Amino acid sequence: MFDYLELAKLRSSCRKYTDEPVSEEKIRKIILAANAAPVGSRRYADIHLTVVRDRRVLDALGEAAKERFRDRKIAEKIIGEVKAPEGPKTGEAKKKNDPFYHAPVVIFISHRKQDLQPGIEWANAAAVAYAMHLEAVSLGLGSVFIWGALEAARYLPEFDRTDLLKLPEDFQPLMGLAIGHCAEPAKPRELTDQKIEVNEIG
Ligand SMILES: Cc1cc2nc3c(=O)[nH]c(=O)nc-3n(C[C@H](O)[C@H](O)[C@H](O)COP(=O)(O)O)c2cc1C
Repeated sequence: MFDYLELAKLRSSCRKYTDEPVSEEKIRKIILAANAAPVGSRRYADIHLTVVRDRRVLDALGEAAKERFRDRKIAEKIIGEVKAPEGPKTGEAKKKNDPFYHAPVVIFISHRKQDLQPGIEWANAAAVAYAMHLEAVSLGLGSVFIWGALEAARYLPEFDRTDLLKLPEDFQPLMGLAIGHCAEPAKPRELTDQKIEVNEIG
């Protein structure tokens, strides 16, 4: 059997990318992995992916986050939760303040607006994003979940440029996955069962 934990050792969030583009073949495999993710009630038609390589679109989408993080207290509250060494790097990407870290591709995960099962859209998006994140690892690529940019767009509607994603009607963008060749090659990490507290019953 395939040992998932061997892949998990290589998984981490990448926040610094080289300029090398991601091949179409790899993007297709990542989309295949998204389609293999579990989705509530098998409602795959409620999910939509948008592959964005256009830097101008990413720059426009990033404006809301830049604006939101100008409020240092908010920035500290949110980014402060990300601890070194996994946290944002002090490289060029941070200087540019780009919430997509200048990754060559960002895949946005959107969901049909629904009120039948409140919250399931977030769980579905996370399942799909994680499947793509793991496939990126297996392809030797780096990736990172993107929450902040879309949250900022929801928080600051006047800076919201998610219209650029040209989503089908009634879909809302929930999160993204920035993907590229990581500037720092993945090193296997020691796994621990101590990060998440567990209680047992019975
Ligand atoms: C739902 C979710 C949203 C996240 N949003 C962001 C984000 O907007 N920007 C970012 O740099 N990292 C984001 N991350 C990555 C986490 O910060 C990262 O997974 C965590 O710090 C653990 O580090 P590791 O992935 O390297 O193990 C997000 C992760 C998840 C699961």
